[in-house]
Amino acid sequence: MDVVVVGQVGRDLVLRVGGVPGAGGSAPVRGRVEVLGGKGANQAVACAQLGLAVGLVGVVGDDRAADDVLAQARADGIDVRHVVRRAGAATALLLDVVADGGERRLLEHVADDVLLRPADVRSAAGAVRGARAVLLQLQQPAPAIGAALDACGPDALVVADGAPQDDGLRERLVATAHVLRADAAEAGVLVGRPVGGVAAGVEAARELVARGPRVVALEAGDANVVAWDGGHVVVPLLGGAPVDPTGAGDSFVGGLTAALLAGHDPATAGWWASAAAASTVGRLGGRPDLDPGRLADAARRARVHHGG
Ligand SMILES: Nc1ncnc2c1ncn2[C@@H]1O[C@H](COP(=O)(O)OP(=O)(O)O)[C@@H](O)[C@H]1O
Ligand SMILES: [Mg+2]
Repeated sequence: MDVVVVGQVGRDLVLRVGGVPGAGGSAPVRGRVEVLGGKGANQAVACAQLGLAVGLVGVVGDDRAADDVLAQARADGIDVRHVVRRAGAATALLLDVVADGGERRLLEHVADDVLLRPADVRSAAGAVRGARAVLLQLQQPAPAIGAALDACGPDALVVADGAPQDDGLRERLVATAHVLRADAAEAGVLVGRPVGGVAAGVEAARELVARGPRVVALEAGDANVVAWDGGHVVVPLLGGAPVDPTGAGDSFVGGLTAALLAGHDPATAGWWASAAAASTVGRLGGRPDLDPGRLADAARRARVHHGG
C-alpha cells in the first residue's frame, strides 16, 4: 500500500440552493450530489485519483448507507478491508447546503460510535505498518490516533492533518510526524497563539520545523506557507471564485502527500497542494476530481505565473 488514511468516512449530501431560507421558509433545491464523503474518505479518494494505492481505516454503521459508501469507496479503488462496520451505529451523514456565491452551511451527524477506537486501529495495524505514508486526520479521538502512531512503520512518511486538543498527543505529533498540515485555526492550536497573516504563518511554520517535522504546511491569511529545514515558500490560493469551500483541506493534504511520495521537494509539494485545493473548491461538495497529469501541469503553470 502506498498510503493508509486514518479518518472519518461518511455519506455526503450536498444541496445547492439560490439562497438559504430563514426559519419557517422553504427553497427549491437546484442541484444535488450524494456521494462518499467525510474527511478521511475524501483524502483517500484524492490519493487514489492521483495514482496511489490507498487503504482506509475508519468506521461506518451497519445501515444501508454503509453499503453505499463502501461500494463507492471500492469503485474508487480504495481498500476498505479495515473500515469497521459498527453494529447498531448510523453511518455519518454530512449535509452541505451551498447557496449561490459559495456561502456554505454544514450540518454533521457524526455519532460517537462512528469515531475510531484504539481497537479499530489495532486491527488494521498490519496495513498501517506496511504503508509508505500514513495520513492521520486529527478530528478522531486521541487514543485512536495514538494507536495509529504506534503502528506506523519506521520508514513511513507520517502526515498529520489538523491539531489535536489533547496536549500529550499534540506534543507527540510535533515530535514524530514528518509532515504537519493545519488550517489557520489549527495552526494557532499547534503554536499556542493566533496565526493571523502570512508573516505570522511563516514564523509559526519555522518554529514547528525546528521542533521536528520535515515539512510544515499552514494556512495563513489568503495563502499557505510550506516550510522545511532551511527554507519556506508562500503559495497563494489558486483558481477562480470558489463554488463550495468544502473539502479544500482534504485535497490539499492529498496533493501534498502525492507530491512528496513522488519525490518532489516541499516547495513543489506546496504548489501541488494548492492546485488540488483550488480544483476542489471549484466544485460542489468535498469530493475531489483530480488527475496526476492535470495537477502537475496546473501546479507548474501557477508557479511560473506567480514567479514561485
Ligand atoms: N482556491 C484555493 N486555492 C488553494 N488553496 C485553497 C483554496 N481555497 C482554500 N484553500 C486552502 O484549503 C485549505 C482548507 O483547509 P481546512 O480548513 O482544513 O479545510 P477542510 O474544511 O477541508 O478541513 C486551507 O489551507 C486553504 O488555504
Ligand atoms: Mg481541515
